[in-house]
Amino acid sequence: MRLGLIGAGKIGQLRARTLREHRSVELVAVFDLNAELARKAAQGSGARVARSLDELFDAPLDAVVISTPVHVHEEACLRAFERGLHVLLEKPSANTAAGARRLVDASLRARRAFGVGFNLRYYPAFRAVREALSEGRLGTLDHLRVYGGHEGLPKFAHEWEYKAPISGGGAMWDVGIHMSDLARHYMGEITEVYGVASENVWKVAGSEDNALALLRSPQGVAASYHATWSEWKGYGIFVEAYGDKGMARAAYAPMENLFIVQERPGAPRTTTKRRYPWIQAREKLFSWQTTALQSFREELDDFLLLCEGRRDLVIADGYAGLRACEVAEAVRECTRTGNRVELPALGPMPA
Ligand SMILES: NC(=O)c1ccc[n+]([C@@H]2O[C@H](COP(=O)([O-])OP(=O)(O)OC[C@H]3O[C@@H](n4cnc5c(N)ncnc54)[C@H](O)[C@@H]3O)[C@@H](O)[C@H]2O)c1
Repeated sequence: MRLGLIGAGKIGQLRARTLREHRSVELVAVFDLNAELARKAAQGSGARVARSLDELFDAPLDAVVISTPVHVHEEACLRAFERGLHVLLEKPSANTAAGARRLVDASLRARRAFGVGFNLRYYPAFRAVREALSEGRLGTLDHLRVYGGHEGLPKFAHEWEYKAPISGGGAMWDVGIHMSDLARHYMGEITEVYGVASENVWKVAGSEDNALALLRSPQGVAASYHATWSEWKGYGIFVEAYGDKGMARAAYAPMENLFIVQERPGAPRTTTKRRYPWIQAREKLFSWQTTALQSFREELDDFLLLCEGRRDLVIADGYAGLRACEVAEAVRECTRTGNRVELPALGPMPA
């Protein structure tokens, strides 16, 4: 596969490394407004450093990875689909649900694969919860708790990361977008949303620093959701899944699991804790980026299969990207109107 990279910043450099290292990938061209960063991403691969988006698209490509700021996603992604390329796009897909919908429509028109970079799906603890659910070890899923937070504005290097409308909004469009995706990944679909968002901490207009919500699937599975930029304890995310035969918890950082399984309520319980000492050691020695990098490698493997038409994969597709944006907008609407929002089930994305 001949791939191009658009955007070679903090995440783009990690993406570039996965592209350079992959046996089945040739990194053909890189474009970033900052030519120095593009050169760094291309280094050692023989990839062309393009001076414009046009020049990147002139290269012989099968697919692109787009890792630019959110407000640039749409233009780059639409142009890639117009060229008949497959796309792996960073999260969030767009800074509005309408924009995310336009990208889905373009991918369906072009009949090209559309992967969205919800890489937390590949973090081993979160993957283990998904496996416990799909293997039926927790019984029938009843409810979820999902949480993601950090200390807010000091985390950001650029205004585009937190200033609505460039960013889309606040905590829900940042760490929260991963959490609504994980909820949907576990419960299958989200068709009802009720929530409340607030801007009382950092007071950036349109950028909520807290959002609490209840999400519901068509089968009646509920998820409580909290995204926050006022987690003074620092970055942390978790999910908890409760079925009629047990529960599973995944958390990061550090990466860990807890499973409690029982045949029926009141029966003896088996408790299993899983820590990931090699991940903790690797992060201590190097950085958290090693964990992100590994997730990007696995996501790229899946993306290549998605391009071949496979669908039974962990990778998030365009519908996942769209629904995550719709959930964030729905919470904003609930906050304004006080009414819950219903969303139509999207179903599986057509091949
Ligand atoms: N999956 C994750 O866990 C994760 C984490 C952080 C960020 N992200 C996402 O990754 C993307 C990039 O974030 P980042 O932290 O690397 O940002 P960054 O600012 O470090 O890098 C963005 C790069 O895009 C370049 N750029 C800007 N406009 C461009 C244009 N029109 N054409 C080409 N290049 C352009 C910039 O020069 C910069 O080098 C964003 O969508 C962000 O939301 C994902």
